[in-house]
Amino acid sequence: MKNKFFRGRRLRQNEHLRSLVQEVYVTAHDLIAPIFVTEGKKKRIQVEAMPGIERVSVDELPSEIDIIRASNISSVLVFGIPTEKDGKATLAWKENNLVQRAVETIKRHDPSLTVMTDICLCAYTDHGHCGHLDSQGRVTNDDTLETLSKMAVTHAQGGADVVAPSDMMDGRVGAIRRALDENNFIHVPILSYAAKYASAFYGPFREATQCGIKGDRKTYQMDPHNVREALREIRADLEEGADMVMVKPALAYLDVIRAAREHFDAPLFAYSVSGEYSMIKACAARGWINERAVVMEILTAIKRAGADRIISYFAKDFKKFQETEG
Ligand code: PBG
Repeated sequence: MKNKFFRGRRLRQNEHLRSLVQEVYVTAHDLIAPIFVTEGKKKRIQVEAMPGIERVSVDELPSEIDIIRASNISSVLVFGIPTEKDGKATLAWKENNLVQRAVETIKRHDPSLTVMTDICLCAYTDHGHCGHLDSQGRVTNDDTLETLSKMAVTHAQGGADVVAPSDMMDGRVGAIRRALDENNFIHVPILSYAAKYASAFYGPFREATQCGIKGDRKTYQMDPHNVREALREIRADLEEGADMVMVKPALAYLDVIRAAREHFDAPLFAYSVSGEYSMIKACAARGWINERAVVMEILTAIKRAGADRIISYFAKDFKKFQETEG
């Protein structure tokens, strides 16, 4: 008498067989570590809502890079957090700015590390929005593009390997591409935060970047209810010249990652954001979940959904996660 049912358990009997049929792997190569850099000397300031994540001064970057390298991570994403902010986001684009100095320092320390930089005004404006404001407090689009473009050029001058605009203004990829090309940076790729949602999961990041925004970003970031709109945003950015695209956040947007993967063949990144990190850390600190197992499961899910690479605050700890079983 032959069994007529599917014996899925046959391939789950032991570790060897399970690993023989494993479909998705997460390795250090998949991960990009965010870095928060701030002014001053010998500064390492713990971000309260993100245990294990610090804002570091430029002189601390070599040791920070060594920590990240110990996990075999080969790319970083740099965020500048200036101590002074104004209405024009001056410190985002003025000569010899914080991010420029950070990139130079990192590249000098470790030329083989891929250094990407965040292009956005929110950490540099006193009102905390990602663009300039008009007299009625509305975020303006086209004059913001000029500032973003200037900012991107300074990062390229500092030696950034990739610039990553995260502001969600319309037309920014085209504007930044033109500015880079005009300044002889035709070789610098753009990783566009193409489908970035107005998400409550960014909460802890706002503490990290000391962003004092009042109100929300719903006039420029995407509405979490929409997935087809994400495809339009990605298409537009690719047409404007984006080399790589991103979906953000990751965990609550796995369907968007999957849709993006199915519709486009450009390299696809997903950003597992601050709130995703802090939730796990908070639960783990109470002993309510197994941190390592949950992190690996979530990173696997993001890759399985279709992301090629993942920006994650856990990248720094990745060696520890790979070494311990759990
Ligand atoms: C800048 C920016 C934000 C994040 C990355 N770039 C914050 C925001 O849009 O409010 C969020 C990253 C995170 O939460 O980890 N605009």
